[in-house]
Amino acid sequence: MSVLTSPGFWFLVVVTAWLAAGVALKGRSPVGYWYAVGYPLTWARINWTWRPLAVERNLFVNRSSGRALVGDLIVRGSDLRPIVPRLWISRPNRAGLNVRIRMLPGQTPEQYAQASEAIMHAWRVQSVRVTSPSRGVVIITAMVTDPLAGVVVRNPEVTAVAAAGPADRAVLALLVGITEAGRSWIMNLRLVPHWLVIGATRSGKSTLIHAIVSRLAPHNVALVGVDLKGGLELSVYGPRLSGLATTRAEAVDLFTALLDLIMDRMTLCKVAGVRAVWELPDPPPPIVVIVDEIAEVFLLTNPRDREEAALRDRATNTLLRLAQLGAALDLHLLLGGQRFGSELGPGATALRAQATGRVCMHVNDSESAQMVLGDVWPEAVATAQLITAEERGTAVTSDGNGSWVRARGTLTSPVEAAETARMYARITPVLDRITRPWDGRAGGEAG
Ligand SMILES: Nc1ncnc2c1ncn2[C@@H]1O[C@H](COP(=O)(O)OP(=O)(O)O)[C@@H](O)[C@H]1O
Ligand SMILES: [Mg+2]
Repeated sequence: MSVLTSPGFWFLVVVTAWLAAGVALKGRSPVGYWYAVGYPLTWARINWTWRPLAVERNLFVNRSSGRALVGDLIVRGSDLRPIVPRLWISRPNRAGLNVRIRMLPGQTPEQYAQASEAIMHAWRVQSVRVTSPSRGVVIITAMVTDPLAGVVVRNPEVTAVAAAGPADRAVLALLVGITEAGRSWIMNLRLVPHWLVIGATRSGKSTLIHAIVSRLAPHNVALVGVDLKGGLELSVYGPRLSGLATTRAEAVDLFTALLDLIMDRMTLCKVAGVRAVWELPDPPPPIVVIVDEIAEVFLLTNPRDREEAALRDRATNTLLRLAQLGAALDLHLLLGGQRFGSELGPGATALRAQATGRVCMHVNDSESAQMVLGDVWPEAVATAQLITAEERGTAVTSDGNGSWVRARGTLTSPVEAAETARMYARITPVLDRITRPWDGRAGGEAG
């Protein structure tokens, strides 16, 4: 029998050719390499390592109860053959693969999220995300490349001329970046009225706010700024702002005026017999209140200063009322901050319960990530903590379908935002009892 007819020989030939193709592809086409070599290897690695990994990370259940009565002693222990959850590995995509796991009774997605670092190393992939799109199931997305690495999302040219028509529903669905899955990152203020945007200094908060303002400026939307760090960040939009507060006292006045205003709107709705202000025949413009550093509203510079404390309490209470009543009256809050922790007091926790939209950028401390994401997507906290200081503009946020996603915001410079604001200054809505910051200024364009 010749060697050419032996199956062993041909098997060796195929394996050698496959390895040679792998070596050739590795440097030249990382995607080709992934499809041809990386995926089969990872597939095998996942299957090999799953049982020991699940046992090591406590992702198993025992066949029998973990407790038994031996004589008059209760002993706790694990079965020698624990049951590990079953998994299904998807076909490869450009960025990696998905593993679908049916959770065992008693398990939560959070347990899998806590194991994500171990999973990442065991499978030798670049990163791992744990989501739970439906009850009882977790999806582990294993990525071999970071789809957001080096991505800079730019705004389309701002050329449109102001069309101050009625703000329709679509106006408040803001396209602010791109998600890891290659979809648009949309912040929909009609679906989710209030948002928390938390990140360390230079993580990209202001840039995201610039992107939001650039999206809203061309429409009949009232933008109101609260910037207690002297107005440095938000005054760039001055000509397009319907109101601006730069001190706590001004913030209290502004919040009170806004509260009166939405109370009027509530009366209008009652009279017309509608449940939301945008159902009115001639709806007033939506109001978007942007608070640049939310901690400035809550923190006291001098804890013994009674007057300051009283002012702080009024600011917190009015802000909380705005959050509670604003949703149906088309008043939205965008609350930016570096930290969001328990030191801000009970007012902050109550506000967080109202602000169900969340954006968590790079944070310096684990408490902030926990505060921002822990109550809505506990399994996302680990991923948010892995966002590095260099990944500016990268965030963990809502995917619009009840789960979370990693995304990168549009790079919008303060100059661009200021330009857009100036371009649309003449459509700046006038709100009752609130003066526009640019009104009465020499050379101001609004008026
Ligand atoms: N989405 C983004 N894409 C690319 N670079 C960004 C992005 N967001 C922020 N940056 C960079 O990070 C810098 C700091 O961002 P900034 O928004 O001022 O941070 P923060 O307000 O959190 O302190 C910006 O000047 C910009 O160069
Ligand atoms: Mg900033």
